[in-house]
Amino acid sequence: MSAFPNSTSKPVPDRHCLKNYNTFGVNVLARHFELINNIDTLRQLIISRTLDTEDFCILGEGSNTIFRTDYKGFVLKNDMKGIQVVQENEDSVWVEAQGGENWHEFVQHCIRNGWGGIENLSLIPGSVGAAPVQNIGAYGVELKDVFESLIAVNMRSGRVERFSLSACRFGYRDSIFKNRLQGRYFIVSVILKLNKAHKHEFELSYGAVKERLEAKGQKPSLQSVSDVICEIRRDKLPDPRVLGNCGSFFKNVVLTKSKFEKLHKRFPEMPNYALSENQIKIPTAWLIEQCGEWKGRRFGNIGIYHKHALIIVNHGGGTGREVSWLSEKIIESVYDKFGIEIEREVNII
Ligand code: EPU
Repeated sequence: MSAFPNSTSKPVPDRHCLKNYNTFGVNVLARHFELINNIDTLRQLIISRTLDTEDFCILGEGSNTIFRTDYKGFVLKNDMKGIQVVQENEDSVWVEAQGGENWHEFVQHCIRNGWGGIENLSLIPGSVGAAPVQNIGAYGVELKDVFESLIAVNMRSGRVERFSLSACRFGYRDSIFKNRLQGRYFIVSVILKLNKAHKHEFELSYGAVKERLEAKGQKPSLQSVSDVICEIRRDKLPDPRVLGNCGSFFKNVVLTKSKFEKLHKRFPEMPNYALSENQIKIPTAWLIEQCGEWKGRRFGNIGIYHKHALIIVNHGGGTGREVSWLSEKIIESVYDKFGIEIEREVNII
């Protein structure tokens, strides 16, 4: 028997280590890892049926994905780069961004060029290709508000297809790519219709955006609104480069009006926002906080951020298994108190 049973095993190349490819910083390995920076490489993998024998998963910047254990298949990292104007008229510009672009850098590019519409989505972690999957949103704006279409590769046939706004079936943090077509398409690029300056109206109604601008004596401009939103986010959300996290770990709860009214009788102080005539959004952070035992607490290597109850953080060495365990406990405790089953926004693989 060898004294060092692992000493003959081949060293695992660095590129298979996923620690730098997920914002939570889970240290796991992938059996195969491919950087996809052009459609042909991807289509080759599909057409040659290389992916048929093993699982595969598509990764953007890994800001919404946590691996429970080592991944025994192909990780396909979207590394498609490029931003270009594809159409323009007096009032609008249609901009196509490749899926592997960093979302925040893309937002800044649009701001520098004077294109309005996504400044409220500043500093959302992740890639352009991941943005439509969960219809990212913040401060009163969602991706769907400016979305024109996207181009994606069908992972079964290798065909390149276009999805219109209606085909994407966007909802609150939701799209067809999270449901029926989950894992079936690789998003190559996204086309947004943005406003030129004279046509742009700012959305300042949500949260403290307007108040902050006024306190600073600033008029709304693409840059000033983006700066204020970055400030607000930095005040209450941890920087994943400093403290690993996936942003909001759970989705907010959306209830029908009648369900909400019953619950509101029992908890009259419950914050709530009307999404539509029959849909009321409840902040899950508030529900978690009311359970009393979570915010700011640490459990070994992981914990709940002290400034925001929706955020699970990695204090160092946290694993997907620990996150899965903690998130289950939180789900149970919210259910016990409110009878509501909260849902994860983050995918645990
Ligand atoms: N609240 C608490 N306790 C907390 C934090 C918040 O009770 O610890 C309550 C307060 O009543 C507060 C309300 O929750 O007014 C809303 O909080 P916040 O403005 O922070 O927004 P959120 O609903 O928790 C959503 C998005 C964020 C986005 C913000 C701002 C989801 C799941 N999250 O959070 O998105 O930045 O609104 O628009 O919809 C993300 O998806 O990763 C993300 C950070």
